[in-house]
Amino acid sequence: MKNLNNKVAYITGGTKGIGLGIAKALLSTGMKVAISGRKQQNIDLALEQLGESDNVMGVVSDVSDILSETRAIEAITSQWGNIDVLIANAGVGYFSPIDTMSQEQWNEMIETNLTGAFNTLKAGVESLKRSEGYYLTIASLAGVNFFAQGAGYNATKFGLVGFTQAAMLDLRPHNIKVSCIMPGSVATHFRGNIPSSKDDWKIQAEDIGQIVVDLLRMPHRTLPSKIEVRPTRPDLK
Ligand SMILES: NC(=O)c1ccc[n+]([C@@H]2O[C@H](COP(=O)([O-])OP(=O)(O)OC[C@H]3O[C@@H](n4cnc5c(N)ncnc54)[C@H](OP(=O)(O)O)[C@@H]3O)[C@@H](O)[C@H]2O)c1
Repeated sequence: MKNLNNKVAYITGGTKGIGLGIAKALLSTGMKVAISGRKQQNIDLALEQLGESDNVMGVVSDVSDILSETRAIEAITSQWGNIDVLIANAGVGYFSPIDTMSQEQWNEMIETNLTGAFNTLKAGVESLKRSEGYYLTIASLAGVNFFAQGAGYNATKFGLVGFTQAAMLDLRPHNIKVSCIMPGSVATHFRGNIPSSKDDWKIQAEDIGQIVVDLLRMPHRTLPSKIEVRPTRPDLK
């Protein structure tokens, strides 16, 4: 996209962490940005951080519910006409040995991290066809590296990487770009973390925002479809 000014982005799970970092980066380019989350209270707090402006809106939506996502997309398109950039970022993680992982945790991860990305695309794909836009997913290095206690989370992120790559092949003929960003450790609220100086060695949310801006600005002929991102100096303790 040559000129990002006034292009419209929808970021799922934009109330904190990576989604909020991407929202800040896109707003700084002059884009209009909609964020979602499950609770109005979290959306209000995020909007405060993003600053009052006609270029920002928040929608309450649970990505695991296709009706909720369809309504979110309708609310954004009725406000701003169309969507150019759709970012499936919302995600949750529960780490525990597979023999003790609860059914609830398994279901929530699958429904948020995997079905949620499908629901967001399903609800927004016609909009992207009209805009010849961009669909991005935030997967993880856990989508290529498995680890003990990660069976549920690994399943969703391995699945999300495969889903995104196959969707890229399906949507390319419509001039829709599709990329999967796969971060390592990012300083966010993920799994109840409270970001502080102990997280300084990690990737920061704004760095993922910068990667998204770079991808959007890439010449249309070129598509980095799968991007692995890791801390330069991991905390090896
Ligand atoms: N942090 C890392 O190290 C890391 C590394 C690689 C990949 N990731 C991925 O990055 C994405 C963002 O995570 P984060 O690290 O930024 O975590 P975070 O700080 O906990 O933020 C998660 C976001 O997802 C939203 N969310 C959760 N479930 C949702 C649902 N069902 N519907 C709508 N929104 C929902 C939350 O909003 P509400 O709570 O307001 O609903 C929040 O805005 C996830 O997909 C995660 O797997 C994270």
